[in-house]
Amino acid sequence: MWLNADGSVRCPRPARDAVRGPARPPLTHRRTTTVTDHALYGVRAPFPGSRPRRLRRDGFSRALVAEHRVDASMLIQPYFVIEGENRTEPVESMPAVERLSVDRLVAAAGEVHALGVPAVVLFPVTDDAAKTDDCAGAWDPEGLAQRAIRALKRAHPTLGVITDVALDPYSPHGQDGLMDDSGYIVNDETVDALVRQALSHAEAGADVVAPSDMMDGRVGAIREALEAGEHTHVRILSYAAKYASSFYGPFRDAVGAAAALGKADKKSYQLDPANGDEAMHEIAADLQEGADMIMVKPGLPYLDIVRRAKEAFRVPTFAYHVSGEYAMLKAAAAHGWIDERAVVMETMTAFRRAGCDAVLTYCAHDVARWLRDG
Ligand code: PBG
Repeated sequence: MWLNADGSVRCPRPARDAVRGPARPPLTHRRTTTVTDHALYGVRAPFPGSRPRRLRRDGFSRALVAEHRVDASMLIQPYFVIEGENRTEPVESMPAVERLSVDRLVAAAGEVHALGVPAVVLFPVTDDAAKTDDCAGAWDPEGLAQRAIRALKRAHPTLGVITDVALDPYSPHGQDGLMDDSGYIVNDETVDALVRQALSHAEAGADVVAPSDMMDGRVGAIREALEAGEHTHVRILSYAAKYASSFYGPFRDAVGAAAALGKADKKSYQLDPANGDEAMHEIAADLQEGADMIMVKPGLPYLDIVRRAKEAFRVPTFAYHVSGEYAMLKAAAAHGWIDERAVVMETMTAFRRAGCDAVLTYCAHDVARWLRDG
């Protein structure tokens, strides 16, 4: 019992006013409450009528009351694609990630799809010789990305194929857009190039095009071109809030853009990590231009942006758990400093809790396997 012999409470607590402020007016005088009303958090019995630890005592009750669940259908697996046949190359800064030739890609994607992963996203690794100032390789119908799309859709018709729309694999300088003489990445000319790239992906059979370039006005231009080109069903997943982040380092190694980029950065078009309101304006603009789904990138360090976006717009909201986040996990796990599986699953849960409908993650295959094997 929680009462002393004299009837007083055994764990004396501070006076109510000191803890919760002055008593509220009676319920009848208050406005109607909603689920988001914080007053609701005060409706439970005070301790010890309410003991939150009761529900946490056993696995069965924890499972029943879990507010968020991780499942394979929330996962999108990224792949790096290389030329050749039956070829794989390790990515040093991303342990367990390999660049794959198209035939190997088809096999790997088949495996993750069989585990319940609905979609993959492709990043071609182009030879330096194929990179030109006008980035024309981006819309070559026989380009690596276009061939990979066709091969995947032929082998796995139900697998969603998402493509990255940006010029970095095709530009000699590793920037996502076209560069003028002063070294500035020009906007409107880049948008024209991105439209051609997105159309060529759609023509190859891409289900979703994902502009990751952060040019102004590109979603509207791509949407208009897709509609005009009778690709009305092709979805746009906009990298709406993509930050100029240093967490992309290992990705740039993986696609071979790090050397080309050198000491340059992408701050003249990607968002400043200091800004949150600006991200909301970017997302609003992309939605008004016709984006079907929006993405926040990177992931964990930007979960506040995911939460704000979900609450403000209530649209399909994805996050990209990026290469640097993956590399940190893998490095700590390799040292035995963290339990990889536990930390990855907790990370996926955090994405869900923040409001993510889906997550692009290099861990997708592992997570799907762990979920299957229990
Ligand atoms: C390029 C692109 C980048 C990523 C996805 N598309 C890198 C960049 O903007 O420099 C990063 C993904 C990752 O780090 O995992 N358009």
